[in-house]
Amino acid sequence: MITEKLLTDEENYKKSIAEAAKILNNGGIVAIPTETVYGLAASAYDEKAIKKVFDAKGRPQDNPLIVHISSIDMLNEVACDIPDTALKCARKFWPGPFTMVLHKTGKTAECVSAGLDTVAVRMPGNKIAIDIINESGIPLAAPSANVSGSPSPTVPAHVQADLDGKIDAIVFGGECDIGVESTVVSFCCNPPRLLRPGGITAEQLRETVPELTVDKAVLSEPEKNQRVESPGMKYKHYAPKTDSYLVEGSAEKFAELVNADESCAAICFAEDSEKIHTQKIVYGNCNDEKTLAHAVFSALRRVDSLGCGKAYIHAPSKEGIGLAVYNRLLRACAFKVIKL
Ligand code: TXA
Ligand code: MG
Repeated sequence: MITEKLLTDEENYKKSIAEAAKILNNGGIVAIPTETVYGLAASAYDEKAIKKVFDAKGRPQDNPLIVHISSIDMLNEVACDIPDTALKCARKFWPGPFTMVLHKTGKTAECVSAGLDTVAVRMPGNKIAIDIINESGIPLAAPSANVSGSPSPTVPAHVQADLDGKIDAIVFGGECDIGVESTVVSFCCNPPRLLRPGGITAEQLRETVPELTVDKAVLSEPEKNQRVESPGMKYKHYAPKTDSYLVEGSAEKFAELVNADESCAAICFAEDSEKIHTQKIVYGNCNDEKTLAHAVFSALRRVDSLGCGKAYIHAPSKEGIGLAVYNRLLRACAFKVIKL
């Protein structure tokens, strides 16, 4: 375990980064902070290590992983035939919460791509993550460091709650800045397609890729047996155990719905708070999507501790990073939406 205390002292910082890199070079698996959520990292070249990641998370075998790099040289090791638009986006959005699906060179372990002939790549914008990749000298495959299906971890305690005892180390890097995962865009189709909304918004991307399309799976439930471009989007995800509903509507109507059933909980906006008389978790101001993104996964983790039979979640706007928050909540609620 590499704690915040170690990481704040310069000498200990170097030792801690070296220790994490050593575990990774020896086939171990380590939870590391990124600017989006914590990732569970393994060498992208080591089939056995990647299998340990799938096992620790209980992740379905057909859901591929994102490869994390720290340089354009590393990008060229793992991906090939990279279109100019993709390179332009890399220059603009890296390091940062942006993942590109590209053709693979075949150097990464087979199970990183889960049978696809593409590879997803991102350069994280977190110093600790970049230092660990540099120190280990290898690209790191890293899904979010949660048990598959549960909300993604944004603080080390979430990682411990899900994976303690199943992984070799956790690097404690405090709270993640952004709080939702990276934006995933496929450049293996024409025009490029947004597969998962995230830290870089569709509006920002369209400045560089005006022809960008948004995959249907972002806002709707895939039909049974339908092929999904980004396999992760087809699973129920981020889900609390409490039966949860995403609710669209005004503060007044939302409060009326929630107050009618005193055994339920609300995940709501600050603006709703004083109107609501049941148990509640405030996840931010209604029009402050950045704060909502930062708090959404913690709120989903906390709701179970309220011990309510049902939870109503007030839906954010789909503007900016709000689209990513809405996308995660839709899955957390298993696509159950109430429109008031
Ligand atoms: O911010 C993030 O992206 C975090 C941090 C740790 O970097 N990682 C993350 O990984 O969210 P994960 O495994 O939880 O989600 C990866 C998503 C999944 O929806 C997966 O299906 C998709 O990326 N993906 C990975 N490789 C792909 C590929 N070759 N083609 C299409 N989708 C892919
Ligand atoms: Mg995940």
